[in-house]
Amino acid sequence: MNPRFAMAFQYYVFIVFFMHISVLHALALNPMIGNVTVKCIESERQALLALKQGFHLNNNAWLSSWGHGDNQKECCNWEHIQCSNETGHVLKLDLHVSDHIVRAGSITTALAELHHLNYLDLSYISFNLTPSIPIFIASLTHLRYLNLSHSGFQGKVPHQFGNLLFLEYLDLGYNSLFAEIPPQISNLSNLVYLHLGSNSFHGNIPPQLGSLLSLKYLDLSENGFNGTIPENFGNLSNLEYLDLSSSYQISLSSGLQWLSHLSFLRHLSLPKVNLSTANNWQQLVSGLSHLQYLDFNGCDLSDSIPSSLSSAANFSTSLSFVDLSGNNLMNSSLIFPWLMNSTSSLDMLNLDHNSLRGTIPEAIGELSSLEYLNLASNQLEGQIPISLFHVCSLRELDLSGNRLSGQFHEFAKALSNCNHKQLQTLKMGWNEIIGMVPDLSSFSSLQVLRLDSNGLNGTLHEGIGQLSNLRELRLGNNSLEGLISESHFSKLSMLLTLDLSHNSLVFNISNEWVPPFKLIKIKLASCILGPDFPKWLQSQHNMNWLDISGAEISSNVPNWFWEFLPTMVKLNLSHNHFKGKIENLPLIPQSALQIDLSSNSFEGPVPAFLSISAQVFLSNNMFSTANLFLCSNVSANTEYLDFQIITLEDSSQIVG
Ligand SMILES: *[C@@H]1O[C@H](CO)[C@@H](O)[C@H](O)[C@H]1NC(C)=O
Ligand SMILES: *[C@@H]1O[C@H](CO)[C@@H](O)[C@H](O)[C@H]1NC(C)=O
Ligand SMILES: *[C@@H]1O[C@H](CO)[C@@H](O)[C@H](O)[C@H]1NC(C)=O
Ligand SMILES: *[C@@H]1O[C@H](CO)[C@@H](O)[C@H](O)[C@H]1NC(C)=O
Ligand SMILES: *[C@@H]1O[C@H](CO)[C@@H](O)[C@H](O)[C@H]1NC(C)=O
Ligand SMILES: *[C@@H]1O[C@H](CO)[C@@H](O)[C@H](O)[C@H]1NC(C)=O
Ligand SMILES: *[C@@H]1O[C@H](CO)[C@@H](O)[C@H](O)[C@H]1NC(C)=O
Ligand SMILES: *[C@@H]1O[C@H](CO)[C@@H](O)[C@H](O)[C@H]1NC(C)=O
Ligand SMILES: *[C@@H]1O[C@H](CO)[C@@H](O)[C@H](O)[C@H]1NC(C)=O
Ligand SMILES: *[C@@H]1O[C@H](CO)[C@@H](O)[C@H](O)[C@H]1NC(C)=O
Ligand SMILES: *[C@@H]1O[C@H](CO)[C@@H](O)[C@H](O)[C@H]1NC(C)=O
Ligand SMILES: *[C@@H]1O[C@H](CO)[C@@H](O)[C@H](O)[C@H]1NC(C)=O
Repeated sequence: MNPRFAMAFQYYVFIVFFMHISVLHALALNPMIGNVTVKCIESERQALLALKQGFHLNNNAWLSSWGHGDNQKECCNWEHIQCSNETGHVLKLDLHVSDHIVRAGSITTALAELHHLNYLDLSYISFNLTPSIPIFIASLTHLRYLNLSHSGFQGKVPHQFGNLLFLEYLDLGYNSLFAEIPPQISNLSNLVYLHLGSNSFHGNIPPQLGSLLSLKYLDLSENGFNGTIPENFGNLSNLEYLDLSSSYQISLSSGLQWLSHLSFLRHLSLPKVNLSTANNWQQLVSGLSHLQYLDFNGCDLSDSIPSSLSSAANFSTSLSFVDLSGNNLMNSSLIFPWLMNSTSSLDMLNLDHNSLRGTIPEAIGELSSLEYLNLASNQLEGQIPISLFHVCSLRELDLSGNRLSGQFHEFAKALSNCNHKQLQTLKMGWNEIIGMVPDLSSFSSLQVLRLDSNGLNGTLHEGIGQLSNLRELRLGNNSLEGLISESHFSKLSMLLTLDLSHNSLVFNISNEWVPPFKLIKIKLASCILGPDFPKWLQSQHNMNWLDISGAEISSNVPNWFWEFLPTMVKLNLSHNHFKGKIENLPLIPQSALQIDLSSNSFEGPVPAFLSISAQVFLSNNMFSTANLFLCSNVSANTEYLDFQIITLEDSSQIVG
């Protein structure tokens, strides 16, 4: 016989023989229900029932198909179970039902009877009688998938997990596991996915992880690791996802060079890792041709040596998320061209809190999918390119705290070209922006508008009152002028913060006006609100910050007003012409409160209730005595008191 044929024949005989055995086995051992064969192995069924019993479930609906009844013999039909078609062994146990923690009692050793399991998911089940990961899970040596995430486990990862040699997916994220990661983890050479994030592991990142050469996904984020990133991470050449974000100090032992071997990286997240020695970071990132997500927030990065042409050749064209905020980047012309050269698919760019000097290039408008741009708190200068406002995908733009210039009404005009339904946040405060605030009523999704501390002038268009989603409006410290009427606020029912202070605005609002909003922060210093007390404040029960200093009010303060004090942190009524006596009221102490009533014409005794606050400014008034105030039993609360110019009947009492 031809030897190859002989071999094939032997296989054939073997297969036929094996099939006979299986059929006989099934007929002999598996009971019948009616005339349907039950596949479930009785010992495994008993194990599952014991397991369920250990859970001590209150919820009868969950796992109700797992039972002793005659019609429940076929455990392969139970929910969350999958058996082998051939052998009837339970292969898969997926008890994860939802994204809410299910509370259960214990995991009993019965689980270990399911020797053939290759898939076990207990995520989102918290076993209050099994606080740490049971060692017997490590006896399930056929496991290829093990998910114990969100399960409230504490303690150590059993070193016996090193026996799970077939494991491909290990998810232990979102528990309270601590101590060090056992070195035996390096035995798991088939591991593709390892999630140890959001636990309390500490110590060095184990260099053993660098020998898991099949890894594609490694998440060690939100733990207490310190020390350095192991150099041998450069061996993880299949890695696509790496997340080492942490609030602890991880640093580099000798640069970021290992990154150059990880050419499949899509997601690279190293926020707060000290990358100050990686002076070629830009060049290394340029070599990552699959990169989509880059988070180097707060990494002590400096300007990088400009990348040579050749190394930029592989720079990913699908980069969509870049966070480089909170670093020491200084030269904007090293960053903007580099980023814009590589990708036009950027949707999120954070460069805030660096020391970037220079201008924003006109070409920024070519980032046509940009949704979030944050360049705040740098030293950028020059004209803000109009092209930026033609990017119709923008949702949030923050340019605050630079030295940028331009005409606001031109920006608004450019923005309105794209029927801007999605712009939610526009922050351009603390720059050198001039011009008028035109009709903004078409920006209907706007929630935050900050244009404070610029050089805006002219009157404020009433269209602003149509922005029914607006939560924050800050126009303070500009040169706005003219009247503010009820229609400036007509639809602002969501507004929480209003800052119109330090302009030349005059409120013309009727005494009967009931505002549509319930403000928390009200800053109207030097707006002309007087001469009457702004009665509409009576509806603002939620306010904790009120500054109406220099508002030309010359009335009494109504008694209802003082009832707001216990929930406030700051009250400034100074530099008005408030007059009259302040009635005493029983009020509870409020240690954070700062009150400024200085430079008014208040009369009579300083009321005792003012001593509820930490700081009180009373100078430049006509108070007659402070006896009640000083002797009140809560005045120990007051840390700072300024009333030098009070005319007192008997000043010796203060000294006492
Ligand atoms: C086992 O049976 C299920 C359902 O009858 C079927 O979808 C699956 O392909 C079978 N698996 C094998 C390995 O035969
Ligand atoms: C583990 O389970 C959680 C929650 O059910 C899920 O979000 C996560 O993707 C799972 N892990 C893997 C590797 O499938
Ligand atoms: C598992 O890892 C430990 C420590 O790294 C090692 O001593 C042991 O030989 C490994 N076991 C197997 C089966 O590879
Ligand atoms: C790292 O953490 C361990 C334990 O948490 C600590 O003993 C060690 O001093 C830390 N090392 C550094 C460099 O901070
Ligand atoms: C892993 O990396 C280390 C140090 O970077 C190196 O010495 C070693 O040869 C690498 N091992 C493999 C298998 O590539
Ligand atoms: C980062 O590391 C460098 C050099 O090791 C050190 O000088 C610097 O202070 C560190 N930065 C931070 C924020 O700890
Ligand atoms: C660019 O990527 C290709 C394929 O991944 C690689 O062969 C080449 O060396 C890379 N070039 C540079 C300059 O990194
Ligand atoms: C910024 O980088 C550019 C490009 O490399 C260079 O020409 C310029 O001199 C740098 N500016 C400063 C202030 O260092
Ligand atoms: C941008 O790309 C062009 C062409 O690929 C190249 O000549 C130029 O040096 C690149 N600029 C930067 C800053 O990488
Ligand atoms: C007002 O804005 C100018 C710059 O535009 C700034 O210097 C000043 O400190 C700001 N004043 C207040 C009270 O915010
Ligand atoms: C606003 O300021 C600009 C110059 O900064 C000036 O030309 C213009 O007349 C001013 N407009 C108003 C209404 O004051
Ligand atoms: C103030 O508002 C009232 C009522 O809306 C209006 O009649 C009056 O003309 C306004 N005052 C000024 C100065 O425009």
